[in-house]
Amino acid sequence: MRRADVWLTPGEIVPTELETRPVVVIDVLRASTTVVAALEAGARAVHPAVTVEEALRVAQAVGRDGVVLAGERRSLLIEGFDLGNSPREFVPDRVAGKLVVLTTTNGSAAMVQAMEAPTAFVAGLVNVGAVARALAQLDGDPVVLCAGRERGFALEDAVCAGVLLTRLAQATTPRWRLGDGAKAAVALARRFGATARMLAATEAGRQLQEVGLGEDIAVCAAMDRSVLVPVVRERQIVGRPEPVASAER
Ligand code: MLT
Repeated sequence: MRRADVWLTPGEIVPTELETRPVVVIDVLRASTTVVAALEAGARAVHPAVTVEEALRVAQAVGRDGVVLAGERRSLLIEGFDLGNSPREFVPDRVAGKLVVLTTTNGSAAMVQAMEAPTAFVAGLVNVGAVARALAQLDGDPVVLCAGRERGFALEDAVCAGVLLTRLAQATTPRWRLGDGAKAAVALARRFGATARMLAATEAGRQLQEVGLGEDIAVCAAMDRSVLVPVVRERQIVGRPEPVASAER
């Protein structure tokens, strides 16, 4: 029987498991959704950075012309950066052919941690079905890393993890053994539902509305809008479009 786990906060990461299991990083509001938007808009790759200083160093090393510096602190644009962390900003005119260097409060740090894993995907509600199908094709016991909020719990990430595991169970024949975090995530997804209304009522959703970015919530809630599977390659995240055969399943 295969096993699936969910780390509901980054504090639950078990390093030896991170290094040996397929990992999916989730930050619904908004870093995962932004990564999907950037890659769909033609960005060459996304390079997640933990700090502003690290992002600036990467931009300098790669060459400022080929880079879009993006990210947020307290949900807002960082001074001197090209873009914030609103998925609506990531359009071909701004990012096509560029390396997006992204630093956000929670999501980009979780993505950097996932680089220790043998395989790591990035999922939000927008591509949850595609990531579930990609996971179903892998061997091993996956673990979902919820980026959470300020190292604490974020309901929207747990709900998305629950949807992902429900889809994974539907796409595979063996029965799954779920760890406690995974069982909780599945139950939360059933209880709250993965809707824009649920997102709007979360702490992260409220913060976005308070700073005038409430429109991002509907974008992040658009379930299965994309079949793109962001995957970590070396130190960067690249887009892997789903093969047609598996998309039709
Ligand atoms: C994060 O990574 O912390 C978030 O995506 C926060 C945000 O976008 O406001």
